[in-house]
Amino acid sequence: MSVGGFEVVSVIGLGYIGLPTAAVLANRGLEVIGVDISERAVNAINEGRAHFFEPELEALVHNAVNNKKLRAVTRPEFAQAFVIAVPTPISEAKSPDLSYVKAAGASIAPVLKSGNLVILESTSPVGTIEMLAAQLSELRPDLTFPQDAGEEADILMAYCPERIIPGRMVTELVENDRIVGGMSARSVDVASKLYKTFVRGDVVATNGRTAEMVKLTENAFRDVNIAFANELSKVCDKFGVDVWEVIELANHHPRVNILQPGPGVGGHCIAVDPWFIIDAAEGQAPLMHAARNVNDSKPGYVVEKVRSLAKPGDTIACLGLAYKANTDDLRESPAVTVVERLVETNEHKVVVVEPNVETLPPHIAGLNLTRASLEEALESAQVILLLVDHDEFKELRAEQLVSKTYYDSRGVWRHLPA
Ligand SMILES: NC(=O)c1ccc[n+]([C@@H]2O[C@H](COP(=O)([O-])OP(=O)(O)OC[C@H]3O[C@@H](n4cnc5c(N)ncnc54)[C@H](O)[C@@H]3O)[C@@H](O)[C@H]2O)c1
Repeated sequence: MSVGGFEVVSVIGLGYIGLPTAAVLANRGLEVIGVDISERAVNAINEGRAHFFEPELEALVHNAVNNKKLRAVTRPEFAQAFVIAVPTPISEAKSPDLSYVKAAGASIAPVLKSGNLVILESTSPVGTIEMLAAQLSELRPDLTFPQDAGEEADILMAYCPERIIPGRMVTELVENDRIVGGMSARSVDVASKLYKTFVRGDVVATNGRTAEMVKLTENAFRDVNIAFANELSKVCDKFGVDVWEVIELANHHPRVNILQPGPGVGGHCIAVDPWFIIDAAEGQAPLMHAARNVNDSKPGYVVEKVRSLAKPGDTIACLGLAYKANTDDLRESPAVTVVERLVETNEHKVVVVEPNVETLPPHIAGLNLTRASLEEALESAQVILLLVDHDEFKELRAEQLVSKTYYDSRGVWRHLPA
């Protein structure tokens, strides 16, 4: 069956971005070949399961696999379009690691055929789609690419960033507007047709470099704005005023909209992507650089605050480890950094509460800390540190904290019910 001119589409990298994309495409009736180097992921998907938690995803995967529209493999096969959604982390030195994109390029090169569309979805530094096209051209000199053959190219190349948020991925994948940046007009046109098979939002056309910069701009904008709130929280502490009240009142101004401070910035995107600009901008991004430093300094600030509240030998209960409320996502989480540093100081017993994670990853589980339920932590700890605004923690009553010293890094306990 042809959907929007496509029959067989391959998604390379079946993680938080690739699996929902593959499952949604398959549920639209396309034949989807999912490719991942992780056997664990491939086996789970072929059993009709998602290998991580995301609302609605399990049912979509189950349905697609049951209807034989989605299957997962470890090596690419022939398809009409290849959608690459592999990781693009940063190195210790804060420069982008494009090795996964290059490996994905090398893996699809042997199965590319004239007429194929290659889409990169991974968040990438400006110029990456051109780098991928150059790599593919080198590996397949028998095919032509847009950088050499323009509109006549055998292979179409597009960069189409993703902006979905964990916890609402399946909904946002369909509802959000989508930027399609092609290396030729035909690349834009054909890639847009693919996205229009499932996107209800607008599909907006541009070139590859602009699309790459748009994605980085979105996250750098968020990072800078959160840094303002985080810096404000330190300034307000100095002046002895409540930052949450200041923000609430300042936001009554019709053109002011300050975001909420917290223990830092986490997740796979906002804490990482601005570096892709800073690294390549050769000193032209001092504001973004400062914002990164402000946000990265916040976990240390929270540690110092809570240490100043605790007496030697006190037990500190840390509520939450995820980087975001009501998720199990621990990637780049500032809450984890706070816990690690508290354990490192070795001055207090540390108890952690994370209701959304069943098994803690070894680098956290191996620390000198105790895991507890919320009730146990409230009973055993003298000091309570709120790190994540999970619903369970927001629903506490004032009487549960009455005999405790506490530090609320999210401002959710300001109006606790009795
Ligand atoms: N997670 C998000 O919220 C989000 C949002 C927007 C953009 N992004 C971007 O999307 C990209 C993917 O992120 P993610 O969160 O899905 O990552 P992820 O780590 O959840 O998934 C990536 C998957 O790719 C697989 N993989 C790695 N190399 C491969 C290869 N050569 N061939 C096939 N599979 C390979 C891994 O095994 C993994 O399953 C990144 O660039 C990220 O920055 C993520």
